[in-house]
Amino acid sequence: MQDNIRTPQHIAIIMDGNGRWAARKGLPRIMGHKAGVETVEKIIDAVLEFGVRYLTLYVFSYENWKRPKAEVNALMGYLKTYLAKADKEFNKKGVRLLAIGELSMLPDDVAQRLQQTIENTKDNSNMTVVLALSYGSRQEIVQAAKNIAQDVKNKKINLSSINEDFFSKYLYTSQIPDPDILIRTSYELRLSNFLLWQLSYAEFYFSKKMWPDFTKEDLLEVISDFQKRKRRYGNV
Ligand code: IPE
Ligand code: IPE
Ligand code: MG
Repeated sequence: MQDNIRTPQHIAIIMDGNGRWAARKGLPRIMGHKAGVETVEKIIDAVLEFGVRYLTLYVFSYENWKRPKAEVNALMGYLKTYLAKADKEFNKKGVRLLAIGELSMLPDDVAQRLQQTIENTKDNSNMTVVLALSYGSRQEIVQAAKNIAQDVKNKKINLSSINEDFFSKYLYTSQIPDPDILIRTSYELRLSNFLLWQLSYAEFYFSKKMWPDFTKEDLLEVISDFQKRKRRYGNV
């Protein structure tokens, strides 16, 4: 894609609809997650090709721990396999991996695999893929508030230094620019506890496709729609 017309710097995606995609085909829900992983691979390649610098993927929410154990286990299994593969692929493509969320809740083997892939890809600079895992935005904000309170109490910081920029440095996303555009597939019109702070001025795009059916062409359509939007940030 030509990058003379505003290419978004950061795309965030709520990859929703795997279960329904499978159900419509008479398959178990986890087959939808399996198909969803293939879409992840295709979309990462497309994002790389389009010259977008950051891609954040909502893989597993804090609330998703409530799902049946069998589904959670299957998801964790796919995640671990995916991370092992990403380790090699990301290094070939120059992609760096980061993760946000309550990572201590992940099973040990998955957490270790994740840290290893993050470590092994940390010097790549073509693009950054951020996986939101065990992620909840309210939990993130509460944790930031607690850490700030602690630092004030310990006299490490002054109350007067707390402003928006300062606060954002206490979030999981401290090193990552805010998303320009949020995509949610499956046409659920809600955020489901995703990046509440960071999406304050993002453009939203709701796709009717279920995540396994989402394609590079769909992504291109989102980007050209984004390029027509006027972002005013409260100004005139
Ligand atoms: C999104 O698909 C993937 C995860 C939340 C892990 P869903 O599993 O939510 O699929 P639907 O929304 O039930 O169809
Ligand atoms: C949000 O989807 C989480 C992910 C896509 C990882 P959900 O399917 O969990 O959200 P709700 O329950 O429909 O709000
Ligand atoms: Mg869902």
